[in-house]
Amino acid sequence: MENNREQWSSKASFILAAAGSAVGLGNIWKFPYIAGENGGAAFLFIYLICIIVIGLPILNIEILLGRTTKKNPVGAFKAITNNPFWKYVGALGVLASFTILSFYSVVGGWSLAYTFEAFVGTFDSFTVKNWSPEYGMPNPESAARFFDIQTKNPFWILGYHTLFLSIVVFILLSGVRSGLEKASKFLMPILLFILLILVIQGLTLPDANKGVSFLFQPDWSKISGQTFLLALGHAFFTLSLGMGAMMTYGSYLSDKDDVVNASYLVAFLDTVIAIFAGVAIFTVVFSSGYDPTAGPGLVFHVLPPLLSNLVGGYYFAFLFFLLLSIAAITSGISILEVSVAFLVDERKISRKKAVLFMAGLVYLAAIPCALSFNVLSDYTFNFQDKALTFFDIADYLASNLLLPFGGFFLAIFAGYVWGIDEVIRNLLIGESNSIYFGNGVVKSKGFKPAFSFTVKYICPVLIFLVFLYSIGWI
Ligand code: PFF
Repeated sequence: MENNREQWSSKASFILAAAGSAVGLGNIWKFPYIAGENGGAAFLFIYLICIIVIGLPILNIEILLGRTTKKNPVGAFKAITNNPFWKYVGALGVLASFTILSFYSVVGGWSLAYTFEAFVGTFDSFTVKNWSPEYGMPNPESAARFFDIQTKNPFWILGYHTLFLSIVVFILLSGVRSGLEKASKFLMPILLFILLILVIQGLTLPDANKGVSFLFQPDWSKISGQTFLLALGHAFFTLSLGMGAMMTYGSYLSDKDDVVNASYLVAFLDTVIAIFAGVAIFTVVFSSGYDPTAGPGLVFHVLPPLLSNLVGGYYFAFLFFLLLSIAAITSGISILEVSVAFLVDERKISRKKAVLFMAGLVYLAAIPCALSFNVLSDYTFNFQDKALTFFDIADYLASNLLLPFGGFFLAIFAGYVWGIDEVIRNLLIGESNSIYFGNGVVKSKGFKPAFSFTVKYICPVLIFLVFLYSIGWI
């Protein structure tokens, strides 16, 4: 263990940074549209089960493995076992971090672009001034056309991707305390504040209750096997699990800090924020009589005209995209930090060199994703009857395969290699006593058998079944 490793200045800083990693495009861009397409509350229900049964134990294990070994994902496995297989599992995490950032940075770039467009008032031109239902709908079609024109321009898309990655690099260059920690401490409260404003404004709209009941009243007919895969993949994605991001953040924790309590808080914040984002978005969508199943374009096609139509809409649209950009930045830094920590620990190179080198590689890897919307849009690969672009492949590969795969191996590692007794012994280190958000839970009688059964059997079996299903074998 290295004594000179940087550490968070407090447990609260870690929680903010880890919540900053968890709360991202997944909560604000992805969750609302996949919930919209898959039955609203019915999806929410399955997703919550995935978070509680699979997400929470794996989150605990990831943070704990980081805190115990004080290492990046490759080094962490190596510190516990000599079996070389496991360092490749860690390396898979580094690969996943590349894959995710290569499409994440493109969408992060769109968020920055839309913040700018909202600021200069572009969205005003999509609205029907003084709109009322008799005059027809405000015009998401024109917003969709705008999105199309912009993303068809390779310079636009590459330019904003470059800007997004540069912000991430700038924060990472300053290190853990003055970069990651300061950024999360500054940005997360702003994010929460903006989200609350948007939720309140959404709830005051006419027909807001339709949007709320869409999220809370299940339509079970929309549930299929595919829903389980989506819900599980999204549980991993949204909690930043399965590729070592939480492990890397955990490696900057001191042994005095409570892992279980931190995991509960992070998962709670992440879930509440996804639900709030859903409320903020669906209240607007339903109050305008628009279709909640608009897919990935929900945020970029539908919201600009709908928000701009409201009283004070200019500000709401600007705040919404600012929120999206902040969420994307605090997650983006955690994704790149995985490979940076890997280079710094394993190859002993300076942090600055590691950040620049890895960002350079991600930059190149993201180019095919960025060009998927223009120059390379005809280069598609057929998979399960769909033509997937590089962008789609990166998203699918990372969320539905690499992350659940990483989670599967992590559960096997904790259950059978590291050993449940060792895991529990380490969980107890730093555990606080009061029963509050998971404090003291590890000491309770039922915890060990329940945790052990979940980690050894439920997590691997469920992930494996979902995995077989996703490749069409069951
Ligand atoms: N949790 C982030 C989101 O919901 O947008 C995405 C993410 C971050 C995934 C970090 C994986 C990761 F390691």
